[in-house]
Amino acid sequence: MRLVFLGPPGAGKGTQARRVADNLSIPAISTGDIFRSNVSAGTELGVLAKRYMDAGEYVPDSVTNDMVRARLAEPDAERGFLLDGYPRTTAQVEVLDAILATSGLTVEAVVEITADADEVVGRLLKRAEIEGRADDTEDVIRRRLEVYAEQTEPLTSLYGSRGIVHRVDGMGAVDDVTGRILAALEG
Ligand code: AP5
Ligand code: MG
Repeated sequence: MRLVFLGPPGAGKGTQARRVADNLSIPAISTGDIFRSNVSAGTELGVLAKRYMDAGEYVPDSVTNDMVRARLAEPDAERGFLLDGYPRTTAQVEVLDAILATSGLTVEAVVEITADADEVVGRLLKRAEIEGRADDTEDVIRRRLEVYAEQTEPLTSLYGSRGIVHRVDGMGAVDDVTGRILAALEG
């Protein structure tokens, strides 16, 4: 299975990606997590990415695409993968298509997780208290939601025209959402 998860900040992409990927025995690959581990390790990539992440802006495609290309070349991604938070721009869609095309492959399914704006802001402010993520402040959350609407939401119609998008309600209990996603993918 080669899957992509779309959804606004706080929709539950990361939470659900880990569960669904475990269920399907494929790696969950989060570009946000890879950036954050580079920030923690103080790498050159991390220093660059942090400037954008802390402002709620996307890291430049040139940087992000190279990072994903390298990650997908690792052996565990051979049997499939679940991408959480990539692609987020139409340019990234084109690059992902090109990466997969070199092996004669395509993205098989896209899961769009939806949730109310009030709910996602509430979740992220709660997470701020627990994890202290630098971009979980009210101003930056608002900017992340805008950037998602401007740059990433159009991907749902782009992938929609390929007939591979499953729109799943991300409200309610975590287990229920996982059940909905797995049911959508099986159907
Ligand atoms: P990224 O880390 O991907 O952040 P995001 O898209 O803003 O999304 P989040 O991780 O905040 O939310 P999520 O949907 O994963 O929800 P989660 O499961 O955590 O990206 C961060 C930054 O990195 C970007 O802003 C950008 O700068 C950069 N970046 C990343 N990818 C990029 C790309 N492709 N191109 C350019 N730049 C890129 O859940 C949120 C909270 O809610 C958690 O506390 C969770 O426990 C809780 N929760 C989850 N589900 C439920 C539920 N059903 N009920 C109650 N609480 C729930
Ligand atoms: Mg996440």
